[in-house]
Amino acid sequence: MLERARRSQYLQALGIDEWTRRVQPAVDIVETVSGEDEWTVLQNSVAACQRCALHECRTQTVFGVGDRRAEWMVVGEAPGAEEDARGEPFVGAAGQLLNAMLAAIGLARESVFIANVLKCRPPGNRDPSPAEIAECLPYLHQQIRQVKPRLILAFGRVAAQSLLGTDQPLGALRGSVHAAAPLNTPVVVTYHPAYLLRTPAEKRKAWEDLKYARRIHAELR
Ligand code: URA
Repeated sequence: MLERARRSQYLQALGIDEWTRRVQPAVDIVETVSGEDEWTVLQNSVAACQRCALHECRTQTVFGVGDRRAEWMVVGEAPGAEEDARGEPFVGAAGQLLNAMLAAIGLARESVFIANVLKCRPPGNRDPSPAEIAECLPYLHQQIRQVKPRLILAFGRVAAQSLLGTDQPLGALRGSVHAAAPLNTPVVVTYHPAYLLRTPAEKRKAWEDLKYARRIHAELR
């Protein structure tokens, strides 16, 4: 201590500004930069991905969109034709309904993070194969790791089963909270908006699921 005081006196006497360590800002900057790097690395790996044959027929990958610090993550199945063309999830008719479903529980599309299990469009909008899901799921896990949502809303059977590693039917998964890898994030399951467009009578059940999710989210605070 005495040494340091003496050193200060010497430096002052010499008219030299003393160097001081600014611990907090330096740490903040390093964390921000490395956080952004990780996200960019992930985006680039998805964009260049050739882990399955879907890369041969895609226009582009569909990484996901929204708030990278969102409390809510929305997970769908896979891009359709419009998403493949625009590079953004849920921009077609199902996307319009998704936006309305989110708005019904007070969530703006921009305030959540929206991703799919698959980042490439299966041709003809067929169901993703188990092998395609297995190749692509690590990207979704990385997104969950980085966004760290408080709650995940899984839309449809493929999203629910892939996130939860189960083959239980959607109906059996509704109405309770599950935990998803890799962070044990709470998951609430509901119907896919494309299914609701074909089966509007089920919208009432989806509304119950959304209210349930909102309640769970409030309890997690
Ligand atoms: N259906 C999905 O599951 N995801 C999309 O992005 C669009 C339609």
